Amino acid sequence: SVDFSTFTKQTGHTSLDYGFVNTAATKSAITYIDGDQGILRYRGYPIEQLAKHSTYLEVAWLLLYGELPTADQLSKWDDEIRHHTLLHEDLKRFFSSLPHTAHPMSVLSAATAALSTYYEGQSDPDNPEHVELNTIRLLAKLPVIAAYAHKKSIGQAFLYPDNSLSFVDNFLKLNFGNLAEVYEVNPVTSRALERLLILHEDHEQNASTSTVRLVGSTGANQFSSISAGINALYGPLHGGANEAVLDMLARIRDSGESVERFVERVKNKEDGVKLMGFGHRVYKNYDPRAKLVKESADEVLAELGVHDPLLDLAKELEEIALSDDYFKERRLYPNVDFYTGVIYKAMGFPTRMFTPLFAIGRLPGWLAHWTEMQNDPQTKIGRPQQLYIGAGERNYPGI
Ligand code: ACO
Repeated sequence: SVDFSTFTKQTGHTSLDYGFVNTAATKSAITYIDGDQGILRYRGYPIEQLAKHSTYLEVAWLLLYGELPTADQLSKWDDEIRHHTLLHEDLKRFFSSLPHTAHPMSVLSAATAALSTYYEGQSDPDNPEHVELNTIRLLAKLPVIAAYAHKKSIGQAFLYPDNSLSFVDNFLKLNFGNLAEVYEVNPVTSRALERLLILHEDHEQNASTSTVRLVGSTGANQFSSISAGINALYGPLHGGANEAVLDMLARIRDSGESVERFVERVKNKEDGVKLMGFGHRVYKNYDPRAKLVKESADEVLAELGVHDPLLDLAKELEEIALSDDYFKERRLYPNVDFYTGVIYKAMGFPTRMFTPLFAIGRLPGWLAHWTEMQNDPQTKIGRPQQLYIGAGERNYPGI
C-alpha cells in the first residue's frame, strides 16, 4: 500500500538505476520468472506444460484474461480473430511505397502504427469495447502484415488470408503459399511454430513490454503502443538477437575461424564482439525456453529431413562456452534466441523474418500488459527521474 512517488517526494530520495536493474516499475499478475532457478510461468502455469499441450491463442487468452478459456470461449474467439484478418485494401498499397529491401521489422512497426488510422474513433483506451475489438484486430492482422513484409521482400504477390485454416497454418500459407499452387501445410512445421510462438508470448517487464507500458501510460492507444514495442524489440540486444545469432554462426562458418578462437575474441571483448544468444538480464541459469527450443531443434530438423551444419556449430559453441570460466563466472547461458533461428531457417524463413516471428509471439504479452496497466488504478504516466550533471546557470553570450 506504499505510494512510492509520494514517499520519494517526501524524503527527497531518488535512486540512480541504469538499465532499471533494481527498480520495479509496476506490480503485475501475468508472468512469474525465477532467474536463478530457471523458472517461467504464465498466470501460474509452467511454460513447459503450456508449450507441450496448449495453443498460441489459448495462451493468449490466458495472458489477457487470467484464466484458461473454456472450449466454447476459445472457439468463439478463434472465429472472431479469423474474421478480422483482412487488411484494408489501401493499407495493402502502403507496402508498395516502401523499398523491397526494407527490413520487415521496420515495415511491421510502420504498418502497425498506420493501422490505427483506419480505426479513428474506435481506439479509446478507456472504452472496454474498443480495447477488446482492437485486441482481436491486432492478433488477427499482425501476422498478415508480417507475411506481407516477407512477400514484398521476395517480390511475390500477397495472398488473402484463408479463414478455414488455424492461426498458425494461415500464417504459414501467407508466407509460403503462392497464387500458382495449392499450399499444403506441413504439420511438423505447424506444431513447431506454434510451440515457438507460445514460448515467446510473455516475459514480464523486458525492454519491449516496458516500452509498450510506458507509451500506453501516456494514454496512447494499442496500435501506437504496440508499434513502439515492435521498435524496441528490433534491437540486437533484445528480439533482434535471433537474427544476430544466425549471422554470427554463418560468419564463423564462412571465415573458417575456429570456434575456440571466436570464443577467445568474445572473452577479450575484441571489437565489442559478443556471443549472441547468450546471457540474460534475469536468467542466471539456463533459460527454460532455450532448453525447450534446443530439444525442438533436433526433433524438427530430423522430421523435416534437414541437416544444418549451423546447428552443429551452435552446439559446439554452447559446449565450449558453458565449460569456460568467463561464462561460468558471469553466469551466461543460452537464451531463447540461441537455437530459434536454426529452426526458423529449416522452416524456410529468411533470417530477416526471425524478429518479426518474435513480435507475433510476443504480441499477446504486450496486449496483456497494456490492458493490465490500463485497468490498474495506480497507473501514472511513466516518467523516470534523472540526476542532472550538466552546466550550472550561465548567460547567453551572443554568437
Ligand atoms: N557475450 C559475452 N559477454 C557477455 C554477454 C555475451 N552474450 N552477455 C553479457 N556478457 C558479459 C558482459 O560483457 C559483462 O562482462 P563484464 O562483467 O566483464 O563487464 C557481464 O557479462 C555482464 O553483462 P551485462 O551486459 O552487464 O548484462 P546485462 O544484464 O546488462 O545484459 C544482455 C543482458 C543484454 C542480454 C547481454 O547478456 C547480451 O548482450 N547478450 C547478447 C545479446 C542477446 O542474446 N540478447 C537477447 C536477450 S534475450 C531476449 O531479449 C529475448
